[in-house]
Amino acid sequence: MRFDIFTLFPGIFAGAFDESILRRARETGRIEIFLHDIRAYTHDKHHVTDETGYGGGGGMIMKPEPIFEAVESVLGTDPATRPPVVLLTPQGRILTTQIAREFSQLPRLALICGRYEGIDERVRALVTDEISIGDYVLTGGEIPAMVVVDAVSRFVPGVVGDPGAPHRDSHATGLLEHPHYTRPPEFRGMAVPEILLSGHHAKIERWRRNESLRRTLERRPDLLARAVLTEEDRQALRELGWQGRDL
Ligand code: ADE
Repeated sequence: MRFDIFTLFPGIFAGAFDESILRRARETGRIEIFLHDIRAYTHDKHHVTDETGYGGGGGMIMKPEPIFEAVESVLGTDPATRPPVVLLTPQGRILTTQIAREFSQLPRLALICGRYEGIDERVRALVTDEISIGDYVLTGGEIPAMVVVDAVSRFVPGVVGDPGAPHRDSHATGLLEHPHYTRPPEFRGMAVPEILLSGHHAKIERWRRNESLRRTLERRPDLLARAVLTEEDRQALRELGWQGRDL
């Protein structure tokens, strides 16, 4: 899968894609990441990319021309043949596992990072989707773009060593994930739950599912309203005191 990131600050991305899983994914060609410096698409002497907004109010607004020129020269001028173009903005739909998984099915995705107080409204004519990474405001769309690339890449086949892992993780199943332990069996008086050392796979799976339900009930009961639950799950939740849904 190929990502094209349009930004005024390509330097912010240094390092983020150069370690660990994303580095290996790039080296093996499973993902490709191209950074495009919007400033390179200005034609004036001072390479101006922002100006004060019409109507007053003080903030600097990103100009439309360099953004249009950057996107059109990299992705083409025909919107019908361009890949989806996502604007990172706190006004977008909130990124979820489901959105990340959908994006991972695409051969190519373009991301535009907004900056400053805002971006000229006419840029929205270029954009096919708007994504926010949460209800808070960052200084720009660069960190959100990294978040999108990371979350999407995990669903690209071959990026994560165990192909089932991204589909078992917190949120992928509609629940938070169960706790994990590794050696040693006892550390500073804290023991690994006996069941995990038992070698009894069916019992371990049930324990994990129950811990996943317990954790979700304690931390994110809102998720239980949408989770797919078996009769065994409902029984476990009843025992944990859940009063929600149709129990
Ligand atoms: N730009 C600034 N804040 C943002 C957010 N929360 N999500 C996406 N883009 C942003």
